[in-house]
Amino acid sequence: MTTPCAGTVPIEVVPTGFALGAEIRGIDARKPPPPEAAEALREAWKQHLVLLFRGQTGLSDKELIAFTQVFGPLQEAPNSDVTAGFGSFADVPPEVTIISNIEVDGRPIGALGAGEADWHTDMSFIEEPPAGSCLYAIEVPPSGGNTSFTNMHRALDTLDAETAATVKDARCVHDLSLTSTGSRRQGIPEVADVRETPGARHPVLRTHPDTGRKALFLGRRRNAWLVGFEVGESERLLDRLWSHAADEAHVWEHRWREGDIVLWDNRAVMHRRDPFDPATRRLMHRTQVKGGRPY
Ligand code: SIN
Repeated sequence: MTTPCAGTVPIEVVPTGFALGAEIRGIDARKPPPPEAAEALREAWKQHLVLLFRGQTGLSDKELIAFTQVFGPLQEAPNSDVTAGFGSFADVPPEVTIISNIEVDGRPIGALGAGEADWHTDMSFIEEPPAGSCLYAIEVPPSGGNTSFTNMHRALDTLDAETAATVKDARCVHDLSLTSTGSRRQGIPEVADVRETPGARHPVLRTHPDTGRKALFLGRRRNAWLVGFEVGESERLLDRLWSHAADEAHVWEHRWREGDIVLWDNRAVMHRRDPFDPATRRLMHRTQVKGGRPY
């Protein structure tokens, strides 16, 4: 589909052919898009939930921040007492989170290393998690490190009626103790009983504020608990919800190239990342679009 924009190169929206995602052609992220193009981009984001922009090499943090602002005001990563063990340890603006396995003087410059990152929603352990995340690939390894996305609108629409009815009004704890690669955040004790998991308690079914569509909102599996449910029943329901949400029918996998920008909607998408050879380098800069309290 091509969206003509007066006085500019038309934007081309090329759906991935999977359950979500589209590549956007005709955008130079260094230049602020004119209002018609910016509107077309926001519409494409609403419709496809994940947008890919190829060939954006050489973007500065300032340009990445300005580009992300097309989709809304920015949200900084939460402060270090919550995210110790996750965050930016190099000299970047507070809006930018470094995701990398690179070490300088024996110290990681970013978060998540080279391991597998489980399915999750970014920062869902806080009360008002970001609406979106924008990940910019500066260096990519020769293999591995692919990122997959799953469409949580579809996951809910295709969930069996009995499970959907059981969790309709439930809330779930989104664990803040572990990162998506399983490392424990500094100063947060190990969770011994999921009923005491630290982190925000969000509705399992949330409403997308821009489209009114409902989506499953699960956040992270480990240490999750459906508030008020007996632990065994909560585990059974969560296993059912997670295996359904991660079903490949709802998933699109992205293989990175340097210069890619991928923007995803945390209100309707979860993502995961493949591991890669730690002897190779992967460097990504991430910004977050500000979100509100899920409802
Ligand atoms: C993230 O979870 O935000 C990072 C995903 C990735 O490294 O591909």
